[in-house]
Amino acid sequence: MKRVFVGITGASGVVYGVTLVRALAGAGLQVPVCISPSGRKVLRLEMGVEADPEEADAPEWLRGSGEGVSVFPHEAVEAPFSSGSYRTDAAVICPCSLGTLAAVAHGLSGNLIERVAEVMLKEGRPLILVPRETPLSLVSLRNMTLLAEAGAVVLPACPGFYHEPRTVLDLVRHVVSKITDRLGLGIDLVPRWGGGG
Ligand SMILES: Cc1cc2nc3c(=O)[nH]c(=O)nc-3n(C[C@H](O)[C@H](O)[C@H](O)COP(=O)(O)O)c2cc1C
Repeated sequence: MKRVFVGITGASGVVYGVTLVRALAGAGLQVPVCISPSGRKVLRLEMGVEADPEEADAPEWLRGSGEGVSVFPHEAVEAPFSSGSYRTDAAVICPCSLGTLAAVAHGLSGNLIERVAEVMLKEGRPLILVPRETPLSLVSLRNMTLLAEAGAVVLPACPGFYHEPRTVLDLVRHVVSKITDRLGLGIDLVPRWGGGG
């Protein structure tokens, strides 16, 4: 796996998305990123950072030490990842708002994030959606069932506590490691139960 698209939407927990991008880039992957307008608002509110919608170069807070991060506008449905012929190995929407989750479940593709998700489903490539919401309405539970039936992985942002977390970032890393494990990447972000590496 060499290229993983990450969509960051306007759900709480944008730090999960940022930490995921940094982990993927740090492992040497190419990471095209798209941030929804609401995602930008939540980035400002929760992390105090500004994501410029016109700036393609990833800011330091997003790319970390990695080289392979690039940022695409939400409306850029002409981006390469919009086509199944382009080799995007997997896509993760993290965090995933229930609005975007509903749109993907129902095949809407009104922006780059939704379109990439649709492409992953139709091409049979890995798609992971990371909702943060709780509690969940029957509407959202049904949308999640639709997605699972279509081959997507719904991976709620529910950190475990068995790795003896000391900081919020330890909890964030636990969720991100669930994502990277599901992608089959050997990235060790937190200690594993039983020491299995
Ligand atoms: C601070 C903040 C936190 C939010 N948290 C959530 C959330 O956890 N889940 C959710 O579905 N929507 C949440 N929302 C609402 C979404 O941002 C809103 O539904 C938006 O239309 C989603 O659009 P997007 O999917 O294009 O990003 C939040 C909004 C704000 C301002």
